[in-house]
Amino acid sequence: MSTRPRHPGPTAPAPGKLALPELREMKRRGDRISMVTAYDAPAARLADEAGVELVLVGDSAAMVMLGHESTVPVTLDEMIFLTRAVTRAAHRPLVIGDLPFGTYEISDEQAVGSAIRMLKEGGADCVKLEGAGRMVARARAIAESNIAVMGHIGLTPQSAIKLGGFRAQGRTADAAVELYDAALALQDAGCFSVVLEAVPAPVAARITEALEIPTIGIGAGASCDGQVLVWHDLLGMYDGPAPRFVKRYATIAEEISAALGAYIDDVRAGSFPEDQHTYSIPDAELELFEAALAAR
Ligand code: KIV
Repeated sequence: MSTRPRHPGPTAPAPGKLALPELREMKRRGDRISMVTAYDAPAARLADEAGVELVLVGDSAAMVMLGHESTVPVTLDEMIFLTRAVTRAAHRPLVIGDLPFGTYEISDEQAVGSAIRMLKEGGADCVKLEGAGRMVARARAIAESNIAVMGHIGLTPQSAIKLGGFRAQGRTADAAVELYDAALALQDAGCFSVVLEAVPAPVAARITEALEIPTIGIGAGASCDGQVLVWHDLLGMYDGPAPRFVKRYATIAEEISAALGAYIDDVRAGSFPEDQHTYSIPDAELELFEAALAAR
């Protein structure tokens, strides 16, 4: 009999991996869930070591990693490439691969196909998609294929133009009811959790209360069952203005700029590298080397 560990497949967690039902248990106990984005192995390792429950390989990668103006251009191949790097290093947290724009809207078959690629090729544990309406059926099709799926409503950056820009959603009674119904529909479709982005805190609180699955907020107040921040926002890896809902826990961009400036100064002054950064050669070998050159 083979002693090779069998691949656990989409319905069974790898050893040491947080089990999906634990998220609902956390909600039941009132324990808050921490989620952060990551796009490479070093960030994923740090997030795992720090103890987050969820790591999202967000399509925000299009903007913070790939330099695009929006999340729309990033492709499934690019997202799978980044997800693979994250899943190599994040062992305990559940890794969620974001389905980028254009990879699930056309049909249930397209959505399930993209989700399968995210798991098989990217190694993700689960997937996320944006929107409600017709997207509820996509979420249901993915969940019915035994793939854990997370919803995302409120400000959905893939449809920012349709929403009138990167702005808060659900600020009228009608819009708030629509969000409330969308969250319930996504739960009914089999989503294991829903992201609420840029939603007024009282609206997010009512949605959180109504759902059995955990809500993860970003700009949705403190009543959500968990919170998510984009890696670069959380760590201050940008100098520019950040959205209202961002709290910077570090100013890494400043540290990087200072370190690069010091490095350039050292290189220009010839003070780097020093002896401890260089390799030696035995004196006898050096003499032979010089003699060989002299003989030319
Ligand atoms: O792509 C992303 O980073 C996201 C989070 C903001 C939830 O969708």
